[in-house]
Amino acid sequence: MYDFKGKVALITGAARGIGRAIALELAQGGAALALNDVNEAAAGEAIELAVKAGSPKAKFYKFDVADSAACDGAVSAVVEEFGGLHVLVNNAGISIDALLMRFKDEDWKKTLDINLTGAFHLMRSASRPLMKAKGASIVNIASVVGEMGNAGQAAYSASKGALIALTKTVARELASRSVRVNAVAPGFIDTPMTQALPEAARAKMFEAIPLARLGTPQDIADCVAWLASEKSSYVTGAVIRVNGGMYM
Ligand code: NAI
Repeated sequence: MYDFKGKVALITGAARGIGRAIALELAQGGAALALNDVNEAAAGEAIELAVKAGSPKAKFYKFDVADSAACDGAVSAVVEEFGGLHVLVNNAGISIDALLMRFKDEDWKKTLDINLTGAFHLMRSASRPLMKAKGASIVNIASVVGEMGNAGQAAYSASKGALIALTKTVARELASRSVRVNAVAPGFIDTPMTQALPEAARAKMFEAIPLARLGTPQDIADCVAWLASEKSSYVTGAVIRVNGGMYM
């Protein structure tokens, strides 16, 4: 567990799955939390759990990360409500899968708008308050397929590969202002997103994992907490693979 007392973290897609696990891990360290999602029902439960886990203050911000103006507004509202911002975790993401020949324009656009442009919006909106925070950290949740590709996931893997490139660029831009920017590239993690995959696809992915188990949201949350904390103060522009050896 890390010490996040006095720190404010904004986490997107925090209502369930990996985002919720990240929120609870930071809450245990005493972080105040601004939790974003579009799923209001699940977010209510996440807020309750975060407070139980030790967060001194946790508030829900409902907005779509693909909406530029909404991101600007939410960051301003968070800074006003909490008095600053120290950690930004861009976790919100979707996956719409189809083979290239059948991929629909609107599905391509929607995936890129949320997974990639959403992170761009929030990093841009949050850069000023993060620079003021002295020693702030941005963590972007990418994916193993952003590095290795995956048949049937053209938009998803392109969005995650581009998110990795964006992470490195922003890391270079903000390093002199003491803002570190890193990516975590999860492998196959057991969440509602992967539970929705057909059984045959799940079995095939499982075979490709040397550690012979699916990852858990907690595996990712542990890595994100380290990157968000001062214990990783010399790490920026890194892509940390948390994938059980699926891609080395
Ligand atoms: P999930 O589907 O369980 O959770 C994603 C959350 O993001 C949901 O609560 C959803 O409502 C929210 N969300 C979706 N669109 C949004 C939007 N436009 N604005 C705000 N919130 C939005 O997914 P999971 O598995 O927890 O994934 C979290 C992140 O981890 C995603 O970026 C995903 O691509 C990434 N990831 C997941 C892996 C896995 O195996 N589950 C593997 C690699 C990466």
